[in-house]
Amino acid sequence: MERSRPTPALPEDDGDAAFWNRTARAYARHAIKDLAGYERTLSSTRERVGAADRVLELGCGTGQTALRLAPSIGHITGTDISSEMIAIANERKAAAACPNATFMAMDGRSAPWPDQSFDVVLAFNLLHLIQDRPTLFQSVGRILKPGGLFITKTPCLSDMNAVIRLAIPLMRLFGKAPSLSFFTANELAGALAASGFSILEQARHASGRGDFRVFIAARKTDP
Ligand SMILES: C[S@@+](CC[C@H](N)C(=O)[O-])C[C@H]1O[C@@H](n2cnc3c(N)ncnc32)[C@H](O)[C@@H]1O
Repeated sequence: MERSRPTPALPEDDGDAAFWNRTARAYARHAIKDLAGYERTLSSTRERVGAADRVLELGCGTGQTALRLAPSIGHITGTDISSEMIAIANERKAAAACPNATFMAMDGRSAPWPDQSFDVVLAFNLLHLIQDRPTLFQSVGRILKPGGLFITKTPCLSDMNAVIRLAIPLMRLFGKAPSLSFFTANELAGALAASGFSILEQARHASGRGDFRVFIAARKTDP
């Protein structure tokens, strides 16, 4: 039985919160480029989440995915470091009249919930923005119930071609990108395995070949 052990909040990266606050409205206006790939991710996620499950989505952005999943699950809490993203998520929640989604501004690296609070934790397009992923995986493991699931779809920047990889530091220099972390899909799966998860699925949902995001569904293993 795990003991209640609140994870200390890591120092906030105000620069990144400011970046996402600045870009939130533009991000919300952006149409999803690969709708078929997005629908594959939603279907694979729905297949693994139960109708009564309590779900946490880290880095939920504008709440789009949480609001798509909400009708088929018990309750979803969406958190994001950007208060502007959360404001948009709450506007969308009101427009959708969705009673079982809650959104709150919070750094995903802090986990102020008791042990074993959630059946499923989601993180879509987030992990490449987190430098200390092992600490995040540790806190995800703590707040998941025994056998709970961590489901992620993550850009793997080390799998991208060299030109794009070289462009990223330049974009950073001009404030056009947040701080980013580089790893391959296999490195991400390996890091999850090393943090006490067993990989149930590792797949690509993209329709085209230029999308380097990996979908991973992983189960918390017994200590
Ligand atoms: C690329 S967007 C993805 C948003 C959404 N998950 C999606 O797939 O559309 C990344 C999101 O992660 C949030 N974010 C970045 N660092 C974070 C952190 N440490 N904790 C929580 N959210 C964070 C940003 O504010 C932004 O909304």
